[in-house]
Amino acid sequence: MATKENKKIRLGILLSGRGSNFKAILQTIQSGQLAQVEIATVISNRPSSQGLLYAEEQGFNTAIFLPKLFPHREAYDQTLLDHLKQHHVDLVILAGYSRIITSVLLKAFPQSVLNIHPSLLPAYGGKGMLGMNVHEAVIAAHEKESGCTVHRVTEAIDAGPILGQRKVSIAPEETPETLAEKVLIQEHLLYPEVIEKIAQDMLDILAQPKEVTTL
Ligand code: GRF
Repeated sequence: MATKENKKIRLGILLSGRGSNFKAILQTIQSGQLAQVEIATVISNRPSSQGLLYAEEQGFNTAIFLPKLFPHREAYDQTLLDHLKQHHVDLVILAGYSRIITSVLLKAFPQSVLNIHPSLLPAYGGKGMLGMNVHEAVIAAHEKESGCTVHRVTEAIDAGPILGQRKVSIAPEETPETLAEKVLIQEHLLYPEVIEKIAQDMLDILAQPKEVTTL
């Protein structure tokens, strides 16, 4: 049960690629700065994702769910959800996860699915705004600053409530590649910061005495 003194918020990490945000979160936990959380499982839709291979090497529980084996997104997310429940996940962390999350998962984890996006949302978010597309669009628009955003995930892409942002300034000679590097450094700081706050809020709610109603 989630009310023990030593309860930690259990993270389910979903990733599809290199997993640098996962590594940053893990390093922060290992450094003792994120003592409220533990990693319950790391899941990928791509068997070759570097982040997943790293999680395996580190001895974490991992799972691969191949999209082609499911008839539709909802069936996929139901299997994902079963796995998350089996591992008692409290908070779902999208860390470079390439799939759109359906209501199957969102209803089971209301307010408890987080994502990181490489722009200052609401700017440069939404359909098609992925990876280098974001940084290319920012540079093409001659923006003076960009950054990253952690937000709660809702059914509207990149439009859930914003939980934290970090900014970077854009130099005149900036390229999408150099901007991506700068933003990523900030992502690795921002995600653990936000997770710490959200996990603490969740633990505080669990620690509140339950109201007893008498008839
Ligand atoms: C990051 O830029 C993140 O903002 C976006 O996907 C990228 C994932 O990078 N959602 P990594 O796999 O964590 O290195």
